[in-house]
Amino acid sequence: MSQVNIKDSVIFITGANRGIGRALVEVAVEGGAAKVYAAARDTSKLTGLVSRDPARIIPVELDVTDGEQIRRAVKQAADTQILINNAGVAGYSGIIFQFSEEAARRELEVNYFGPLHLARAFFPVLSGKPQAAVANVISVGGLSTFPMAATYSASKAAAHSLTQGLRAELHSRGITVFGIYPGPIDTDMADGVDMEKESPRNVAVRVYQGFAEGREDITTDKFADEFVVNLRNDAKAVERDNAQFAHQS
Ligand SMILES: NC(=O)c1ccc[n+]([C@@H]2O[C@H](COP(=O)([O-])OP(=O)(O)OC[C@H]3O[C@@H](n4cnc5c(N)ncnc54)[C@H](OP(=O)(O)O)[C@@H]3O)[C@@H](O)[C@H]2O)c1
Repeated sequence: MSQVNIKDSVIFITGANRGIGRALVEVAVEGGAAKVYAAARDTSKLTGLVSRDPARIIPVELDVTDGEQIRRAVKQAADTQILINNAGVAGYSGIIFQFSEEAARRELEVNYFGPLHLARAFFPVLSGKPQAAVANVISVGGLSTFPMAATYSASKAAAHSLTQGLRAELHSRGITVFGIYPGPIDTDMADGVDMEKESPRNVAVRVYQGFAEGREDITTDKFADEFVVNLRNDAKAVERDNAQFAHQS
């Protein structure tokens, strides 16, 4: 475990065109990052963001499920020190009720295989660099299932496990691996979620504070802070509490 400072660092962020990804780009630039690669499926959606600081915000075309685009992105961003796997999808599919096979598979492709392939592809360029790190944006739903988004939670549980595996393998290689665990955040993804939500900007601030403190597991908001404490105290009670939100038909 080591401290990672964004000041003067080169950062690569997936899903950077909106939501938490966009806030991560903005806060990194404000925090003195040397360069931020802002990756998005459609780079025309990055125009406004890039125009804020074209010298430091570099657009990259990247669908995290596309192997060829990943290879091209690594070549373009070979000076990257910190990879942030932020891109994600949520289909709000249940298991028996409101099930969508398509959503379940898509969530695994984007939320699990995306970070897996990105971490593998960026490993050679991160190796040997100072401040080298991989950070995966997971969810507290990956620690205890949100039944109204059960297949999404399963993909995030896979991403949580992937993060631990990556950390174990990269421990001796000087690459710090962070897991980021947000609760409900005010983005398009949580549009239909009727809960108090944290702002993407505050999430980004908490992420980089966590990096600077060398905290491998980073919660980003009050809901997430309380959720992990409750899990530690009584995981079954958390599971029972979450069950009230399950699809019933
Ligand atoms: N919002 C929450 O309550 C919450 C809570 C816990 C964790 N999270 C996690 O936080 C991360 C960011 O989510 P958000 O809340 O900012 O959601 P969002 O506003 O819906 O943004 C999702 C981002 O992911 C991108 N994306 C989706 N599929 C992609 C693909 N195949 N390749 C590349 N990019 C792709 C989207 O790009 P397009 O614009 O091209 O679709 C968009 O930039 C996700 O991993 C999410 O699971 C969110």
